[in-house]
Amino acid sequence: MLILGIESSCDETAAAVVADGDRILSNVVASQALTHEKYGGVVPELASREHLRKITPVVDEACRQAGTGLCQVDAIAVTEGPGLIGSLLVGLTYAKATALALNKPFIGVNHLEGHIHAVLLQNRSERRAGTAEAEARFPNVTLVVSGGHTCLFRVETIERDGCPRFSYRRLGQTRDDAAGEAFDKVAKLLALGYPGGPVIDRLASSGNSRAVDFGRVRLKGNPLDFSFSGLKTAVLYRLRGTDLQIEASERRAWLSSRREQGRAVSPQELRERCSQATVDLVASFQAAVVDDLVGRTLAAAEQEGVECIFVSGGVACNSLLRRHFAEAAQRTGLPVLFPSPALSTDNAAMIAAAGYFKLRAGECADRSLTAHASFPLGA
Ligand code: KG4
Ligand code: ZN
Repeated sequence: MLILGIESSCDETAAAVVADGDRILSNVVASQALTHEKYGGVVPELASREHLRKITPVVDEACRQAGTGLCQVDAIAVTEGPGLIGSLLVGLTYAKATALALNKPFIGVNHLEGHIHAVLLQNRSERRAGTAEAEARFPNVTLVVSGGHTCLFRVETIERDGCPRFSYRRLGQTRDDAAGEAFDKVAKLLALGYPGGPVIDRLASSGNSRAVDFGRVRLKGNPLDFSFSGLKTAVLYRLRGTDLQIEASERRAWLSSRREQGRAVSPQELRERCSQATVDLVASFQAAVVDDLVGRTLAAAEQEGVECIFVSGGVACNSLLRRHFAEAAQRTGLPVLFPSPALSTDNAAMIAAAGYFKLRAGECADRSLTAHASFPLGA
């Protein structure tokens, strides 16, 4: 069964063709990073215009790479929310119009459900190839951690008529910034480039993560909730009125002149423009975020008594996060499963994979399918 997946919830226009829910025949992503770079964050109006420009070529390319045509796909799965409304509407309208014109079923997928299915997709394809180190098990605790979301879910499956149905319970979520958003904002404060996560990840490898003690984030109420805005403010206070701030202003001017010249900045060039104190600061910030994410996820797994942890979303690419979870898995015997980096960040293969199970369960959408900026997953 061939599913065409379409994803346009934020700043990536993506299309993919996935066979039987676990064979990725194509996975095409057109990134808008260059469009939003100079603003240090996604500009919604520019994002929708860019999606409109890219959606047709991206879908065509996904079909070409998969060696199929739109007429041959069995169904179209599309992200219906949450996300930027103008961005979501581009992918959703394209998917719905194409499905109606070709008389095919179409399926609305929650973006967060897509991120959860990215882990299952990765595991199912590794198992088919005989390379899986562990088996994806349910119930599990899943951490979805990206630029827009930081949520913990309990995920269960029930087999009905030979088809698994997934159910989600939200255990905790961020009360302010998402973890990826905090990476992006700290990178903007320090003029390190956009998106901030990958830049900070690379720089931190040459920094001392114990240089600055940010302390633990303490929250009243649900201990499985997150909060990252205080950490970002703490970085700002460390910066204000110091040499680090002067250094950041100089770097900002340098980055913008390089942008005007259309010249890319290599990681090494950026490192040369950063003092050791700046690198130590970002390494300490990253360590504080990772500590918090790992700590609360392990606490959720213990609370729920599950035998497996999934981690997905753009921040799941972070090398320190992967290392700390791998160490925790060794220590506790609880397998922690990640998607590949390409399946961790926004992509349409995860939407097609989630759509596959919905199609099998008969959960197709009708003409009333529409986009939702806010679209919580699970109770
Ligand atoms: O999942 P994603 O592509 O989009 C959303 O659904 O938000 O995640 C993008 C986010 C950005 O905030 C980016 O800075 C962050 O993921 N990110 C990382 C890394 N790679 C991407 N954060 C930390 N370390 C990384 N290596
Ligand atoms: Zn995402």
